[in-house]
Amino acid sequence: EGFKEPEDHHFTFEGPFGTFDQAQLQRGYKVYREVCSACHSMHLMSFRNLGQKGGPFYDPKYKNPNDNPVVKQIASEFDVADIDPDTGDEITRKATTSDRFPSPFKNEEAAKASNSGAIPPDLSVITKAREGGANYVASMLAGFQPAPAGLEVAATQHYNPYVHGALATSWKGDPHKVPLGGVLAMPPPLADDKVAYDDGTKATLKQEAQDVAAFLEWASDPHATERKQMGVSVILFLLLMAGVTYAAYRQVWRGKH
Ligand code: HEM
Repeated sequence: EGFKEPEDHHFTFEGPFGTFDQAQLQRGYKVYREVCSACHSMHLMSFRNLGQKGGPFYDPKYKNPNDNPVVKQIASEFDVADIDPDTGDEITRKATTSDRFPSPFKNEEAAKASNSGAIPPDLSVITKAREGGANYVASMLAGFQPAPAGLEVAATQHYNPYVHGALATSWKGDPHKVPLGGVLAMPPPLADDKVAYDDGTKATLKQEAQDVAAFLEWASDPHATERKQMGVSVILFLLLMAGVTYAAYRQVWRGKH
């Protein structure tokens, strides 16, 4: 009963000085848009967040992300459910920058019906919700494998060594050699060339998995970079103040013992 430890993907945002790579966030958004958003929602994220400082489509020309034409274009490509203010009818309209990323399913029943009984989790804070964070998400996405011989896996389930699961009851082999990992109702969503990147990056399975994991890490914690920079400023300030205080101490006590 164990799982494979996530690979270390050496993300640019790791560590106290790490920052997001904007080109990677844009690629990750493309993977999210073209692949993941078919099944997953991201309810804590508004379209305008994509254009805020540090975001994938931040452009210093547009201090207000609602004015950013790329962000406007992205929002307009999504449909959201709403109520017609005049008739009170349920309608579908084009999203605006202030809407949130919608769920592709009308409700949980519809989500289950399309996913063999499982509900695709909201991805807003998924890298915080799963042990291993972005390294887990990237490893899991690139880590689907054919089930080892002796493991009974339902046709709707997919074996993945990185997933936390309990496979003992579906394992017919040596009870001391239960395979690592678990199964998911999510079919392997990524493969080589699943998307075509606009910046010329080769869309290998691993690259796509890392890029979307980086995007989801940003979505989970959009202000991480600013927070780290603030931390550095605070430390520098404290060092400076320590020096000033020491100098003042020396000055006050000069010549006295
Ligand atoms: C579960 C990410 C695409 C359906 C998950 C989980 C993550 C994830 C992180 C949670 C796994 C866990 O519990 O540890 C993604 C990403 C995608 C993607 C980043 C795009 C690259 C899709 C697609 C579908 C889908 C296209 C539908 C065809 C599901 C379902 C679950 C799930 C049904 C729940 C599985 C279960 O609990 O057994 N996904 N997903 N996902 N995903 Fe996706």
